[in-house]
Amino acid sequence: MRVQVAIIGAGPSGLLLGALLHQSGIDTIVIEQRSPDYVLSRIRAGVLEQGTVNLMDRIGLGKRMHAEGLVHGGFNLGYRNTRHRIDINKLTGGKNVMVYGQTEVTHDLMDARAAAGAKTVYEAENVQLHDFDGASPRVTYTKDGVQHEVQCDFIAGCDGYHGASRAAVPAGSIRQHERVYPFGWLGVLSDTPPVAHELIYSNHERGFALCSMRSKTRSRYYIQCSLDDKVERWSDQAFWDELRLRLDPEAAESMVTGPSIEKSIAPLRSFVAEPMRFGKLFLAGDAAHIVPPTGAKGLNLAASDVHYLSHGLIEYYQDKSPAGINAYSDRSLRRVWKAVRFSWWFTSLMHRFPPHEHDRGEIGQKIQEAEIDYLLGSTAASTALAENYVGLPLEV
Ligand code: APR
Ligand code: PHB
Repeated sequence: MRVQVAIIGAGPSGLLLGALLHQSGIDTIVIEQRSPDYVLSRIRAGVLEQGTVNLMDRIGLGKRMHAEGLVHGGFNLGYRNTRHRIDINKLTGGKNVMVYGQTEVTHDLMDARAAAGAKTVYEAENVQLHDFDGASPRVTYTKDGVQHEVQCDFIAGCDGYHGASRAAVPAGSIRQHERVYPFGWLGVLSDTPPVAHELIYSNHERGFALCSMRSKTRSRYYIQCSLDDKVERWSDQAFWDELRLRLDPEAAESMVTGPSIEKSIAPLRSFVAEPMRFGKLFLAGDAAHIVPPTGAKGLNLAASDVHYLSHGLIEYYQDKSPAGINAYSDRSLRRVWKAVRFSWWFTSLMHRFPPHEHDRGEIGQKIQEAEIDYLLGSTAASTALAENYVGLPLEV
């Protein structure tokens, strides 16, 4: 088989890239190692920047998002038992975010790709990349015991942090930067009404907590936990009791609890691989970078990578110009590093660090408290937070 672009991974990066390229008549195949149900079962964040909303609209997938998504003009910081609202709409001159789960984004993208009849292979095994730094890039995989080969012009490595694409790059050709945080997030999904109509990020002496949602009837909650904690140690009741202790009295009092429909622990890391291009191979999304979920940037960075990469590939095929693909890595990394900085900053501001492991050093806890006090009293500081939260501008 031959295609113009072989896309590895059917997460948001791969499916969004496939949709944008298909819309411009570029022939693609998406090769995914898991089943569609497995991909959809992964619970991820759900705050979309305006740029991500625009991409979904551009590919004609805005209908359900605008019907079911929740437009938020602000969020709350919980600190010293008080809730402080950050009015992102006012501070950014009218910008908002859209609360719409990544599972829903992925579902919409999967349905659209199937409806368009675009080539997608699920449950592909032993996916391997070949000759992407040469003249004949290709991808091989096994499906139902049969070996397949896909010849292509380009390979898009959209296969996440643990994927085969970045791993296929020779060690001497890639620089990797990483910070692993000394805590994790224990998350619970429940069919209960959200405790507030906007998100609450809580800095508490017992640890960070986040109150989010998927809809007006489905909530998503997180509490900071230690890296050696285990999900099995946390009954639903223990989770709800601990969460209440980390929230302001009004939230603690009004919270509606119920059985967890998903419960998991995720580690937090900052990671960037440079560059994001190796000959005919382009990395996008989690394959190239990971951010701690505090700033809800993971999905939005995947979308901005795909915005730049699709722009470059369309320019290559339609205008016969390599300028966009040649600029891809630098353009994406400029935005990636700003989001990595913001996600690190927000994480180090809102979490409790073990003594002597604070990101801000030995006196980090005192500096953290001073920074929150300053932030809550400064329009300039709150505006900087709001600008980053809604998403920095996409270079055209
Ligand atoms: N071959 C084929 N597919 C693979 C391989 C492989 N060797 N390795 C991984 N995959 C698939 C995974 O099963 C997954 O479906 O690639 C996909 C990668 O999807 P994500 O990990 O979701 O990464 P991405 O599409 O970049 O989306 C980033 O997802 O994980 C969240 O927080 C992250 O919100 C961010 C978003
Ligand atoms: C979520 O709803 O899962 C979520 C929201 C905001 C974040 C992180 C996670 O910053």
